[in-house]
Amino acid sequence: MDYPPLVSEECSSRLSTASDRTNREPELTLVLGQALDYLRAAPDGSFQLVYVDPPFNTGKKRTLERVRVERDDDGDRSGFGGHRYRTTATSRMSYSDRFEDYLAFLGPHLEEAVRVLDATGSLFVHLDPREVHGVKVFLDELLGRRSFQNEIIWTYDFGGRSRSRWSAKHDNILWYVRDPKRFTFRYEDIDRIPYMAPGLVGPEKAARGKTPTDVWWNTIVSPTGAERTGYPDQKPRAILDRIVRVHSDPGDRLLDFFAGSGTTGAAAWDLGRDTVLVDSNPEAIEVMRTRLAAAAPRVVELTGSVDTGDSSA
Ligand SMILES: C[S@@+](CC[C@H](N)C(=O)[O-])C[C@H]1O[C@@H](n2cnc3c(N)ncnc32)[C@H](O)[C@@H]1O
Repeated sequence: MDYPPLVSEECSSRLSTASDRTNREPELTLVLGQALDYLRAAPDGSFQLVYVDPPFNTGKKRTLERVRVERDDDGDRSGFGGHRYRTTATSRMSYSDRFEDYLAFLGPHLEEAVRVLDATGSLFVHLDPREVHGVKVFLDELLGRRSFQNEIIWTYDFGGRSRSRWSAKHDNILWYVRDPKRFTFRYEDIDRIPYMAPGLVGPEKAARGKTPTDVWWNTIVSPTGAERTGYPDQKPRAILDRIVRVHSDPGDRLLDFFAGSGTTGAAAWDLGRDTVLVDSNPEAIEVMRTRLAAAAPRVVELTGSVDTGDSSA
């Protein structure tokens, strides 16, 4: 069965209504620098929602190359219609993703993330099956098991299939709260998804759709779609829209300190939340400047902490 996206394009624009916004323009700040430097300078309790999508420890530099293919009799490859084609790289962006001791890297960031969370705040940590188990144990110890709310499985169906094991086609998103008795969960703002067997629930329910569970089906960012920025490991807007909409209020202050192409900021700005986006890679800041130009972001550089992403093999 083909699973529909979390929110259709039509639905997504319908959902972004005036009730999502305050009556002032949201503020967006881009910070070029090391996440820890930013976090250590940030005041206690200054964010209502922290979402992070750190490097997953794939052991390699993460690179995405965009290419243009043109017909050329002297080109480097054969292709459609038996013609020769030339491939030219138009952009190549990367960041380092290799850690000897992953928790020694991520742990101090998470400790600071909890400190800067508001008393009613939520922390979302987006990982994959490689490191999620160690991070779950770490966060259980840091915040207490009662603060753990969900492990959201974002599952997609893209790319090759393994012939030697089950193909890994999901990411793991851990959701923790500072206070298990007091946190934001805007149930009424949850988008509805179609029933798998609408014939079993009657026309009214089928038309309304159902609320999602902790397993979210959504395709990856399409390599040819308008959403694509060219930055490696960009996450889909639909995933961030749902997190921002349900787990924060309009006017709240959000933080993503591994911001990449700025998906969190794009969702937050459209939904009327203020956001700080931090990344140590100047290419990420450039992508965010372009992507989020309509938000007229303030750009801050933390001196002496610029990472060109060229350090890994
Ligand atoms: C997986 S990407 C984030 C992708 C993002 N969620 C998106 O949708 O585009 C991780 C990002 O963390 C950044 N990063 C890695 N180490 C960092 C550090 N110490 N401080 C700040 N940013 C860092 C990388 O440059 C990279 O852009």
